[in-house]
Amino acid sequence: MNIVDIIAKKRDNRALTRLEIKYFIKSLVSHKIEDYHASTLLMAIYLNGMSHDEIVNLTKEMMKSGEIIDLSDIPGVKVDKHSTGGVGDKTSMVLAPLVASFGVKVAKVSGRGLGHTGGTLDKLESIPGMSINLTNAKFKELVRRNGIAIMGQTKELDPADKTLYALRDVTATVGSLPLITSSIMSKKLASGSDTILLDVKVGSGAFMKTLKDARELSNLLVSVGKACNKDTRAIITDMQEPLGYAVGNILEVKEAIDTLNNKGPKDFTELCLTCAAIMLTQAKVTDNLDKAKEMAEANLKNGKAFYKFKQWIASQGGDTYYLDHPDKFKKAKYVYDIKCKHVGYIKEIEALTIGEAAMHLGAGRLTIKDKIDPTAGIVLNKKVGDHVKFNDLLCKVYTNKENVNDILKTINKAFKILPVKVKTPKVIIDYIK
Ligand code: URA
Repeated sequence: MNIVDIIAKKRDNRALTRLEIKYFIKSLVSHKIEDYHASTLLMAIYLNGMSHDEIVNLTKEMMKSGEIIDLSDIPGVKVDKHSTGGVGDKTSMVLAPLVASFGVKVAKVSGRGLGHTGGTLDKLESIPGMSINLTNAKFKELVRRNGIAIMGQTKELDPADKTLYALRDVTATVGSLPLITSSIMSKKLASGSDTILLDVKVGSGAFMKTLKDARELSNLLVSVGKACNKDTRAIITDMQEPLGYAVGNILEVKEAIDTLNNKGPKDFTELCLTCAAIMLTQAKVTDNLDKAKEMAEANLKNGKAFYKFKQWIASQGGDTYYLDHPDKFKKAKYVYDIKCKHVGYIKEIEALTIGEAAMHLGAGRLTIKDKIDPTAGIVLNKKVGDHVKFNDLLCKVYTNKENVNDILKTINKAFKILPVKVKTPKVIIDYIK
């Protein structure tokens, strides 16, 4: 077997066998092929696609390219959730303790933010003392003892994806369904949970811009997960406007704290409760989704979810004083108000523009090496569908940077206002199982 023949086969739009895919991944991670071989094969896959069997085989081989976390000796169902990424997406910080407050084991490997999308690890690290660099042994110990742990991806987990993703990023091959599916699912499968819930975002602030593409990706993720014998489900959720009000690390932690105290934004709370309900059914706490949602809501109201949150943060070194006193978190030096210049109804708050603006204010990174400012970001004061008058506050902007006038103007333009009534968008668009 040799890599040039494999590239030629895919170039000619023929399906690769399991052994050919295995050869490719093994040669990749052992550096026996050059980057140009891998890049050319990626482009052939991008152009010609892959059959379902090929995608399943690619996912399995990528999963096996490194360490697989084995959680099987921890009793109970271990659940996991993954979002394809968005603006203001602080769901894991609420969802993980909410689900764990029922005794369900939440074992989650998370990522960092890049570009306009934030990452759970950066948000968690904005809590003083909080560590996401756990060894696999510590991760397992916490899941066993407290029923909850979130850690960053180690170098050993799915090294094939690390190499392939870096190549895709610079060869215009990111947006390929077989490559996105195998990238997401191989990492999730290597993380060791029994069930997976995928939150596929759709809209201007998401990877998937159209509902058609989001549906196609969701169906593929679910069917590949099932082919790998995991209970895999997906929801498609709105990312046309930012999720909740807060965008930026400390700002989002504060909104997560509010939500865990049942004082969160409506859209964000709805998303957390829906995801929690699905995960509770995956963990077999109940088989009734409506009942599961009521149970989850009760744990936001009775303080059990917030209690679990504090226990979890403390177990990973975080200072829980800040969780009880969120006003003590560090603050940005400059705060600007963006005021409305029209009268009418908010038709759109462009998530992509808000996400990029937050990144330029310091909340995100353009390249993975950039340092983030945990205090920077944007807090909306209005959502799509709201009525606004001249001079109403649209949002507050937080930064330590000087000369941000151009960013402020861009943020203002992200709010589209119409003279006619606009419906409040639904956050949950579809559920695929
Ligand atoms: N997220 C991933 O982990 N991989 C992709 O290819 C796209 C989104």
